[in-house]
Amino acid sequence: SSQQPIKLVEVGPRDGLQNEKTPLDAQIKVELIERLVRSGLRDVEAGSFVSPKWVPQMATTPEVLTSPTLAQLRRDYPDLSLPVLVPNARGLSSLTTLLSQHPSDPPLTNEIAVFVAASEGFSRANLNTTVADSLASLPPIFDSAKKQGLRVRAYVSVVLGCPFDGRIEPEKVAGVAKELLEMGAYEVSLGDTIGVGVPAGWEKLLNECERKGVPVSKLAAHCHDTYGTAISNILHCVSLGIPTVDTSIASLGGCPYSPGATGNVSTEDVLYALYHSGIPSSFFPSPPEAGEGTLLGWNGEGEDKERFERLCAV
Ligand code: HMG
Ligand code: MG
Repeated sequence: SSQQPIKLVEVGPRDGLQNEKTPLDAQIKVELIERLVRSGLRDVEAGSFVSPKWVPQMATTPEVLTSPTLAQLRRDYPDLSLPVLVPNARGLSSLTTLLSQHPSDPPLTNEIAVFVAASEGFSRANLNTTVADSLASLPPIFDSAKKQGLRVRAYVSVVLGCPFDGRIEPEKVAGVAKELLEMGAYEVSLGDTIGVGVPAGWEKLLNECERKGVPVSKLAAHCHDTYGTAISNILHCVSLGIPTVDTSIASLGGCPYSPGATGNVSTEDVLYALYHSGIPSSFFPSPPEAGEGTLLGWNGEGEDKERFERLCAV
């Protein structure tokens, strides 16, 4: 196929684990990241520099990032990206300090992710601020990241519905996404945080983005599977030109500030669907013709099947 491979961003170690009540040792997270990377994923969110009072599970992020195992992974896979979430200037300055205390080549990370809500209710619950104030706080963060050679990914959450405010207007999401691109985000990930989207809703949203000057080629789809629609949403978004999809191994996660939301869409399911649809991805760059795939045991043999099984065993 002449299509550019769909980039998969694995969010399990961050979005997936941030909700877990039992504190996990840094070593377990490191091992998870290692297995994900060694099984073939190249963009793996490694943690967050958020307030430990808000998300205690992410307090180990500095320990995770500085582990010798991750240093080895960075050397083994030069194209590896390990983005970390940064909610405010305080978070970025913690990362800056860590980077200066642990100079290495490649550096601990080359990418941060900022996040903004599409609704006031979610912004209050997730960031304790308004949408306007959270956008206004970002330019210095973009500036400082740029000076440090960190690229910036941006999330917009609750793009198709909010647990507090209900329906979200596509114009609102497109407006926020546009501001984030203008600030310098290389990509904006649209989060259906509570998993209420269907393909038609995504299509409306993407059309509105295009209309507002936000090219679909700069967007990522971040789907949750509350109503079982995530895979259809993703295949539809991909058919409309979305180049990047966020997924979470074993559908780990949900968001601590979205009551009732279930997991992120699972990495295995997305890869299964893309592969058998003949759509190249960063994990399977050369899938067989649509409908011809053999990732399951029936008559399947060979390297793709082994790689898929290794990923499923993570
Ligand atoms: P706040 O309470 O308004 O801020 O929280 P504050 O400035 O009053 O700080 C409270 C305490 O946290 C203070 O400590 C600060 O120093 C400290 P104290 O003085 O009480 O001892 N603090 C920090 N500590 C470490 N790192 C920091 C930091 N900032 C302040 N960066 C704040 C505001 C933004 C900090 C808070 O709301 C927060 O951390 N929010 C993040 C919540 C979060 O991580 N949510 C999940 C990520 S978003 C998501 O999952 C959706 C997404 O995955 C897409 C999707 O699924 O759809 C992206
Ligand atoms: Mg999520």
